[in-house]
Amino acid sequence: MERLIPESFIQELLYRVDLVDLIDEHVPLKKTGANYVACCPFHNEKSPSFTVSPSKQFYHCFGCGAHGNAIGFLIEYSGLGFVDAVRELAGRAAMEVPDGRGAASGRGPQLQVLSELMGRAARFYYEQLKGSERAITYLKERGVSGEIARRYGIGYAAEGGHNLARVFEDHANVELQVAGLVIKDERGRVYDRFRDRVMFPICNQKNEVIAFGGRVLGQGEPKYLNSPETPLFEKGREVFGLPQARVAIRQAGTVIVVEGYLDVVALAQHGVENSVATLGTATTVTQVQKLLRQADRIVFCFDGDAAGRKAAWRALEGSLEVLAEPKSIAFVFLPEGEDPDSLVRQRGADAFRALTTQATPLSEFFLRELAGHCDLASAEGRVQLVAEAKPLLGRLQSSMLRLQLVKRLAELSGFSQAEVEHLCDLRPAVQSAPGRARRQAPSLLRPLLRLLLQKPGLASQLPVELLPDSSAEADAVRMLCEKIRSAPGGDLPYPALLERLQGSECEEVLRGAAAELMHQPFAEDEVDAEFAGAVRKLREGNDRRAFQLLQEKVQRVGVGGLSNDEKQRYLRAIGVRSSADG
Ligand code: UTP
Ligand code: MN
Repeated sequence: MERLIPESFIQELLYRVDLVDLIDEHVPLKKTGANYVACCPFHNEKSPSFTVSPSKQFYHCFGCGAHGNAIGFLIEYSGLGFVDAVRELAGRAAMEVPDGRGAASGRGPQLQVLSELMGRAARFYYEQLKGSERAITYLKERGVSGEIARRYGIGYAAEGGHNLARVFEDHANVELQVAGLVIKDERGRVYDRFRDRVMFPICNQKNEVIAFGGRVLGQGEPKYLNSPETPLFEKGREVFGLPQARVAIRQAGTVIVVEGYLDVVALAQHGVENSVATLGTATTVTQVQKLLRQADRIVFCFDGDAAGRKAAWRALEGSLEVLAEPKSIAFVFLPEGEDPDSLVRQRGADAFRALTTQATPLSEFFLRELAGHCDLASAEGRVQLVAEAKPLLGRLQSSMLRLQLVKRLAELSGFSQAEVEHLCDLRPAVQSAPGRARRQAPSLLRPLLRLLLQKPGLASQLPVELLPDSSAEADAVRMLCEKIRSAPGGDLPYPALLERLQGSECEEVLRGAAAELMHQPFAEDEVDAEFAGAVRKLREGNDRRAFQLLQEKVQRVGVGGLSNDEKQRYLRAIGVRSSADG
């Protein structure tokens, strides 16, 4: 679905947006020579190795390997999904995102209106809090300071069903209903959804309010009333507290996931600022994916009881298919009866942090849970262990982690590692790829790659049949030429190319070549000559290889054993013109 946005649009978008401006807004850049540098926002470092090329419009970190175009930057830095990143950039470039059917889609007028209404409601609730002694007292009793209340935009929805009429002239406006702020009953009466509740705004990545959670002051049912799902708010996609936690997550490299609004708020109150909450539902793959874009490590924090273990297991299942090296996921199980809120208030931030650093790794939780309900003393139980692990292992993205788990499963089950792999239908973890092992002439193909990246138009002049068969670089050159030639106008600047290469086998090689180019670009007036030289060497190398093959054949079968065509080529190569050639 994501890729329904036409590639031509992406290409134009990347052309219109200036990556240096974009990045500079988030990470102040310093000019050095032809490039800009900064300390990398994606890993901790003291001297700047994050480099942005204004001419090539991509960034590369020579420290951690982060690499991408403007879309990639927004995805990595702001945690946006592909479509949202494109929308955000389109907004900057004053372009309208088309959908696959040609009509303008996405953040249509409807969403703008709803978002506006939610923002106004949030400000109103926030102001109302100041006038409510009861609500202020409640928050104080729960240890929430004014500063933290401000940070999370905590508000108060007063008693009575018509308070919102003070902000919105038309209280019965259907949009207020769609936003989930007011409810219309069967008799057509309209009243506020949230009454006499402390209000927690739920924000998207851009810090726009998209929903609320409202807590009763004290006892009452339901304890939390949440916004319904609306065009702005899809529960399983969002977490509470992400915009507020972003900087701390980045600094710590870790995001702590808790269950409740007040857990997040209480942790922040005690200086643990890198936590977010799932919204009272099971953790989804989308949420895990979103968080892994922001952090290298997720620590889930659940109650120590059966319900907490079950919730943790659901989170584990949601993690398997998106967890890849070097990311990691771990679990903290709190003592019964405690939640992060009560724990941090009683024992302080350091004790809480200690729990998160000693969290149970996903692999351990995985094995412990499975082994826990299989009787490993019996053959049947050991078979059950492997059988239950099978579907889960199959979904696991991380091949290294899978291998580790296979080894442990082998120990526990008494099967050999190979048997476990076979029983679980896994490919052997270590693949031998003989074709790839022989890398040919990298020294020649690397410059060719850089030349094509610097001046994609050259692709039309490259005789690809001259490329050697089996090398990663040759594959990359071939792929590059193919993509460039199929692009409109036979030109495909690097940022647009990156978009097309997502996930392809050549991506790594090209990233490396692009990074080299950043430091050693060819002088503009030398590109063509360099290219001609590279093609000539390619041809020579090719001729030499062909001649060697012929030579070997001659040694085996004699000149007489060659076909006519081979004979001509052979004689030409050794400098003797055959009479037929005259
Ligand atoms: P908890 O019942 O653990 O509440 O629900 P809590 O966060 O500790 O709240 P306090 O400390 O009693 O105030 C955890 C989360 O589940 C969702 C909310 O998101 C809540 O933060 N929930 C809970 C609801 O959506 N509705 C409810 O009625 C209860
Ligand atoms: Mn609580």
